[in-house]
Amino acid sequence: MTPTITVPPQQLLERILSLEIVRVTERAAVSAARLRGRGNEKDADQAAVNAMRRELNKLPIEGTVVIGEGERDEAPMLFIGETVGIKTGPKVDIAVDPLEGTTLCAKNMPGAIATMAMAEGGTLLNAPDVYMDKIAIGPGYPRGVVDLDASPEENIRRLAKAKDIDPSAITALVLDRPRHAAIINGIRRAGAAVRLITDGDVAGVIHTADPDNTGIDIYMGIGGAPEGVLAAAALRCIGGQMQCRLILDSDEKRERAAKMGVTDPRMKYEIEDMVKGDCLFSATGVTDGSMLRGVKFGKNVIETETVVMRSVTGTVRWIRAEHRQIEKFHLD
Ligand code: FBP
Repeated sequence: MTPTITVPPQQLLERILSLEIVRVTERAAVSAARLRGRGNEKDADQAAVNAMRRELNKLPIEGTVVIGEGERDEAPMLFIGETVGIKTGPKVDIAVDPLEGTTLCAKNMPGAIATMAMAEGGTLLNAPDVYMDKIAIGPGYPRGVVDLDASPEENIRRLAKAKDIDPSAITALVLDRPRHAAIINGIRRAGAAVRLITDGDVAGVIHTADPDNTGIDIYMGIGGAPEGVLAAAALRCIGGQMQCRLILDSDEKRERAAKMGVTDPRMKYEIEDMVKGDCLFSATGVTDGSMLRGVKFGKNVIETETVVMRSVTGTVRWIRAEHRQIEKFHLD
């Protein structure tokens, strides 16, 4: 007897894709990990790009890269607008960062990941590769408890009140950059602690979703816009609040953004503005980090660790994989 399929075909495919995208980030991570600690950001990034593109082109999708390696004239592969997949299957938007934390990988420091998100066609924000101001907290708070336009002190005070704890029990994660001096001072003035990271704000934002385990209550500061959209996809799956604004501080940037459909250069984006529909998110560790273990190369086995999320159900899977046919990973 033929079993009855109770899941609608579109959702069935999406369920299958949620495992397929794990393969994509795994392969990118393994390729980049071979170049860990070699001091060469470009080569490590290129290896991850090659592997990710190769795997994306095996998927049963009609995909368009909306967050990629750069705009068409500056990136030969996985450029914004490139189509990927075997061109049969659902139309989807793809956001990729094949190697998030190129410097972390080149220096073999904690926290480099390979990451991507996939969503229904036309639902991911087409963000240019510019900076973006971001604030993020995890799930379980009243909407609007923190605000991108409030001062860091005010946001710490409001979050502490919502958590019913003293501001001194709050820890904020911030990228260690001179441009963040005022934010860091503001957070400390409010009595909270700052944890600084040298790179990697996709994982940085995701840390806010699980403060009990990560020790991070809030993320604040300016990072890449592509990384902002990827982080928003993750929070759309696991819950949380995020507000962002593109930093379009020149005519050239405003024009680039306008070409991508940004009509209001000062718009404050919420998660639902950046990821308008259901999405999938996957990240695989390249170097060991506080979120994911890095790739481990054994004599006959390669081990990877991936987190994959699906917004329809809010499912988060942690996948420790042992790859035995390691010749498959020697394609670059
Ligand atoms: P790369 O992997 O492209 O080097 O990005 C790493 C990163 O730290 C991101 O996580 C972050 O959004 C961005 O760089 C910050 O930019 P900058 O290094 O210019 O301050």
